[in-house]
Amino acid sequence: MVKIVMLGPPGAGKGTYATRLAPKLGIPTISTGELFRENIKNNTEIGKKAKEYIEKGELVPDEIVIEMLKQRLQKDDTKNGFILDGFPRTLEQAKALEEISDIDVVIYLDVPEEIIIKRLSARRQCKKCGAIYNLLYLKPKVDGICDKCGGELYQRDDDKPEAIKERLRVYEEKTAPLKEYYINKGKLITIKTTKIDTPPEEQVEKIMEALKQKGLI
Ligand code: AP5
Repeated sequence: MVKIVMLGPPGAGKGTYATRLAPKLGIPTISTGELFRENIKNNTEIGKKAKEYIEKGELVPDEIVIEMLKQRLQKDDTKNGFILDGFPRTLEQAKALEEISDIDVVIYLDVPEEIIIKRLSARRQCKKCGAIYNLLYLKPKVDGICDKCGGELYQRDDDKPEAIKERLRVYEEKTAPLKEYYINKGKLITIKTTKIDTPPEEQVEKIMEALKQKGLI
């Protein structure tokens, strides 16, 4: 049983690594960003509320995210643990999470801003299964088509330059302080990226090693 939080700026690789770690650990990945995108696609009440914030690169209000996450964590598949990708993102969310569940470890992805901007501008995602690609270093085998399910790849609305800039600003203001918060709780592990072409598998191995050293797996 292990409960993990992936923390890091937009484009740091939270989704890329979480989706590779999850099958190794036999636990689900829960991405609040993905949950919102699904809600927007299905035009639900949550989706309607979240859309305007997401497109501008702003955070969705805490009460909406916290309620959505609470409901997701009640599902049976989280009994043996989970990986949270994109939650918490504010101090209020971190405190709310403590009321809902005990987190074992926070994996902080330390990535320089110039790498992030290049990666986000070149990111593509599958409309059908959500798999993440990159036109620079993680290309699909066939242009525009998902290797895993044959779905169509698209560019997220919030991966346009203006929204990227705003997401990075919001991250520094609202989410970056969580590093200190989790250091003080003795829960933070830092995984550093210095080169844009570091293969995801290499970083995932580093994370697995760190989890072993902490006695969590
Ligand atoms: P969300 O979907 O969580 O976006 P984000 O945090 O901005 O994170 P990203 O998905 O952009 O980046 P990532 O770190 O997962 O990077 P990825 O693995 O894709 O949230 C979207 C929006 O929803 C938010 O802006 C907000 O409005 C709202 N929201 C969500 N949660 C919320 C919350 N808790 N509170 C309030 N609002 C919330 O990697 C990026 C690219 O790099 C990819 O192309 C990938 O292929 C590439 N890449 C990564 N690592 C490597 C590598 N090692 N080698 C090669 N390429 C790599």
